[in-house]
Amino acid sequence: MAYNPINIENRKYLLTGAGSGIGRTTAILLSKLKARLVLLDINEKGLNETNKLLDNEAQTYVCNVCDFDAIEEIIKDSVQKSGKFDGFSHFAGIASIMPIKAVEKETAQKLLNINTLPVLQFAKLLSNKRYSNNGSSFVLISSVYANVGSSANVLYAMSKAGIQGITKSLAIELSAKKIRVNCIAPGFIKTPMGDGISHFFEEKHDEEVEKMHPLGYGESEDIANAVIFLFSDMSKWITGTIMNVDGGFCAK
Ligand SMILES: NC(=O)c1ccc[n+]([C@@H]2O[C@H](COP(=O)([O-])OP(=O)(O)OC[C@H]3O[C@@H](n4cnc5c(N)ncnc54)[C@H](O)[C@@H]3O)[C@@H](O)[C@H]2O)c1
Repeated sequence: MAYNPINIENRKYLLTGAGSGIGRTTAILLSKLKARLVLLDINEKGLNETNKLLDNEAQTYVCNVCDFDAIEEIIKDSVQKSGKFDGFSHFAGIASIMPIKAVEKETAQKLLNINTLPVLQFAKLLSNKRYSNNGSSFVLISSVYANVGSSANVLYAMSKAGIQGITKSLAIELSAKKIRVNCIAPGFIKTPMGDGISHFFEEKHDEEVEKMHPLGYGESEDIANAVIFLFSDMSKWITGTIMNVDGGFCAK
């Protein structure tokens, strides 16, 4: 048989935020590798569009990731229908451009509720051997802005720095169960999330962002490829890592 170190055929992964952007691209590439997918998003239309782009139909659930009870129901339902999971990645997220003078507790809580806290519920359930196979891999999504400061970004940075702390603690705690927990810190990728906040920037935003990345703007595939590597056995001795996938942004 041909050498194929990224053999994830038939493995089952849960992806949140799969209705758009990086989550959608990751679903598409995983389906090309014949992984089985369970996709979650609050946006039903986006989720259905993603499903149409896959090589094999995924199980989809319209879900607000802030709803921990719904997450538990989905995991139980999916395990009953198609067996245990081999890992998850939490892509669902929102951005926030807001100077500290405008920050309110409710907005801060919202960023944590969507970007950070759902990881705890997914990890709690999917570290239970009733719901997960041995050797599962969790891939959490942070941002370069957890590593590097920038103006009016305190809430997003907080939510993504939390992801990095969770990664390291969970990697230690779950190592006894042979579950690996890693994190990707992406640089700028053109997705609907970036479009949604572009009006906050000067006209030359694209040019400026390009200059911040020695290798230029990234694509969703660049992040998806790293997720696939971390899901696969190619990374079987890697846990607790924060992997910058950022075209050199953090090397400067
Ligand atoms: N695009 C970038 O430049 C960039 C850089 C660093 C990190 N990231 C991170 O990558 C991840 C994916 O970002 P993207 O650029 O693909 O964004 P996107 O806006 O294209 O996709 C985010 C998805 O999350 C879903 N979502 C939002 N709130 C939800 C909720 N409460 N429940 C369920 N689903 C919800 C949205 O419907 C959407 O489909 C995010 O965590 C983001 O913070 C993105």
